[in-house]
Amino acid sequence: MNNIELKNAFIKEFIHLDIISSTNDFAKEHFPLLKDKTLILADEQTAGRGRFDRNWFSPNKEALYFSMVIKKNIVIEDLPFLNLISSLAVFKSIQDAAAIIPDLKWPNDVYIKKKKVAGVLMETIFKTDRLAGTIIGIGINANIKEFPLSLQSSATSLYLENNQEISIMCILSKFVEHFAHYFRKRKSRTAILEEWLSRSSMVLNKNILITINGIPKRAITKGLNAQGFLLIQTEDNPLTEIFTPDYLLID
Ligand code: BTN
Repeated sequence: MNNIELKNAFIKEFIHLDIISSTNDFAKEHFPLLKDKTLILADEQTAGRGRFDRNWFSPNKEALYFSMVIKKNIVIEDLPFLNLISSLAVFKSIQDAAAIIPDLKWPNDVYIKKKKVAGVLMETIFKTDRLAGTIIGIGINANIKEFPLSLQSSATSLYLENNQEISIMCILSKFVEHFAHYFRKRKSRTAILEEWLSRSSMVLNKNILITINGIPKRAITKGLNAQGFLLIQTEDNPLTEIFTPDYLLID
């Protein structure tokens, strides 16, 4: 642990670790003991996880890896919106701290020029059948100078886009500021949906490849429904809501 401070009243406890397997795993392991609105930041992750058990590249001090634990005042219906507001808050923190306007991919990926710069891994904790809370894990590729070959065509960093280093704590405090704002407004779902839609070029009339019931299909994105799920149109089915974030843009 070390002693960098995070000054924002929204966060009730701030834990800063030098190195950990994954901040989401740490939050899960210690979940019963952690206060509502704890933020765990790590300088390095040895087993950073993305969605679908993919690895998340997490070199020491080159990027931002953190998880937020939310235990109180949320209901199951809020969960898709927490995903959306997390990515909106990442969007805004990048805009403020790096002066770049990114692009959102449903449900919570952040892109710059068609390369991924940040992602969100939200995991939900149930106690018997009651929602006990959620862990929102966020990775933002801040100062990464070189990605492994396998990621070079799909990932970018703020450093690679701006050719200058950025303060990790500056992005983090901007993130918390924006997240706190959206969290207070989380029941204003139409407003959140509208803002999210206005920050995404990928959610309307884009060609995608998606696997439905094990069958890969081409489809066209058709916006979001009132619950925050993606609507798509396939040849054989006029309009379908999708829950899986695993799809490929082919435009
Ligand atoms: C994705 O886009 O697949 C989600 C990536 C989430 C990565 C972050 S880094 C901090 C937190 N700890 C993890 O192991 N994963 C998330």
